[in-house]
Amino acid sequence: MCGIVGYVGRRAALPVIIDGLRRLEYRGYDSAGVAVSANGRVGVTKTKGRIDTLCEKIAREGVPDSTVGIGHTRWATHGRPSDANAHPHTDCRGMLAVVHNGIIENYLPLRHRLEAAGHRFRSETDTEVIPHLIESHYDGDLVEAVRRATAELEGSYAFVALRVDEPDRLVAVRKDSPLVVGLGEGENFLASDIPAILPHTRKVIILEDGETAVVERGRVVVVDPRGAPVARSPLEIDWNVEAAEKGGYPHFMLKEIFEQPACLRQTLAGRLVPGGPRSPSVTGLVFDSGVLDTERVRALDRIFVTACGTAFHAGLAGKHFMERLARLPVEADIASEFRYRDLVLGPGDVLVVVSQSGETADTLAALREAARRGGRTVAVTNVVGSSVAREADEVIYTRAGPEIAVASTKAYTAQLLALVLLACHLGVARGTFAPERAAALLEEVKALPSLAREVLDGAGDIRETARLLAGWDDVFYIGRGLDWAVAMEGQLKLKEISYIHAEAYPAGELKHGTLALIEEDVPVIAVVTQPDLREKTISNIREVKARGGHVIAVAAADDEEIADHADEVIRLPVTHPLLMPVLAAIPLQLLAYYAAVERGCDVDKPRNLAKSVTVE
Ligand code: AGP
Repeated sequence: MCGIVGYVGRRAALPVIIDGLRRLEYRGYDSAGVAVSANGRVGVTKTKGRIDTLCEKIAREGVPDSTVGIGHTRWATHGRPSDANAHPHTDCRGMLAVVHNGIIENYLPLRHRLEAAGHRFRSETDTEVIPHLIESHYDGDLVEAVRRATAELEGSYAFVALRVDEPDRLVAVRKDSPLVVGLGEGENFLASDIPAILPHTRKVIILEDGETAVVERGRVVVVDPRGAPVARSPLEIDWNVEAAEKGGYPHFMLKEIFEQPACLRQTLAGRLVPGGPRSPSVTGLVFDSGVLDTERVRALDRIFVTACGTAFHAGLAGKHFMERLARLPVEADIASEFRYRDLVLGPGDVLVVVSQSGETADTLAALREAARRGGRTVAVTNVVGSSVAREADEVIYTRAGPEIAVASTKAYTAQLLALVLLACHLGVARGTFAPERAAALLEEVKALPSLAREVLDGAGDIRETARLLAGWDDVFYIGRGLDWAVAMEGQLKLKEISYIHAEAYPAGELKHGTLALIEEDVPVIAVVTQPDLREKTISNIREVKARGGHVIAVAAADDEEIADHADEVIRLPVTHPLLMPVLAAIPLQLLAYYAAVERGCDVDKPRNLAKSVTVE
């Protein structure tokens, strides 16, 4: 996720753009930049760091006065945070500037073709193909050049183009990434999100996928993919700025829970090789770095997975994914334990660290310890250029965008998906997961975002169930195998934001002690999504019911028997068993969220906790 701002009007563009970028910093903050059109050239100022750093650079270097300009605050997905990788990006002659939010999946072949035609690139980003592509199509009409360039792009994008010889207009295109137009008096605005526009106007046009907006100081024209004008009456926004930053949701956590379908799409974007898995050397998957080439993968003896908190629960599921598909021994351990073990690591061992922030002290220390002892390291992280990303041998970025709420949700399901893709890659490369079976799994992976959307559509019913939990001081979660890994995540979510005491147990473990705590109406959440283990978990549900417990089951839609045993059933769409954890996590996130709201807790900033634990 990144923040884009555009302005064309009567006033000086720079202050409007900088103010807009500050209101969008929650969308990304590793680098920033502005471009204005003045004196026959595009003036670009950009830098690694936050908006303040950009303002310091502007104060030092100056920016030409202009009434038209664009700005960007970045959340890196391709290319580490740096001055060169910051947006805006320009064409070869510095006549055109572009800011972009999204992922251009086919940027490499486009870049190679443009370089072969003589275009000179200055960054590592996928975005930079856009200005050069527009330049290659430009013959005096920016709108037409943008249309032709857009026809060649694959992936998700919201971008705004500014051309020095068409100084009074901005051209913007939207596909899968948000972009809105703000309508003023003698001035008009573009932004990734409404907060950037609110100080100037409440009249907003939300661009739809495939639409292009031509924005001038006195006119806005929206056209559809065929170039036909679209009649669109503006919305009147009545949010205040804080509500707008949350996209109208009451909390960042709920906004991020509902962003999960889009985040899963971003995690997947550009990772599936056309034609799918074909052989150990063509696993069907590409990653951000040359993740474990075939020779290395075939030489692997063992995999360790380590992380903290929610990331550890993703790693626990990752253990199951990799054991099943790569047929290797996989050990998952909490990073604060792993780092102090007297590890026996050899060159055939690899450590996978999972971390949303990429800065968690224990996880980073575990990575360094494994590296010191000769193990290879792979990082699954959400922050490009983070410490674990820089220090690991290989990196897989989850691309969930900035996660603001302390309680991790969208990053967790993105981690699960990234670990499934890694397990699939390892299995095909080792010959332990047949390419045709991998292809079938990846087909189901493609449907995951829409299945997650389907689960979210049932949020209202889950809110009713959460009201029951909110009245309790103790809640238990049970599951087996992958269902236990998900149950572990569910209990942490509930604890950390509602302050209700919750515990998760392997369902088979109940009779070894915990069953003593089950009495009349005690709520027990049973995760029952794995076909090979559901009968066993159902017998554990019966044990709970025999003691009077109140069982809320999270189960697949086609499970006809579960309703005979559980008091309530939260139904999930059916998909591959390895993908069910991604769907099962969502109702558990919602249960925790609504229970916390019911109890009046500070959902986004729970007591005693920090978003990134950079101390031991
Ligand atoms: C999860 O909701 C918590 N915020 C916490 O457990 C978190 O997952 C843990 O601190 C690890 O953080 P990381 O993913 O940034 O390494």
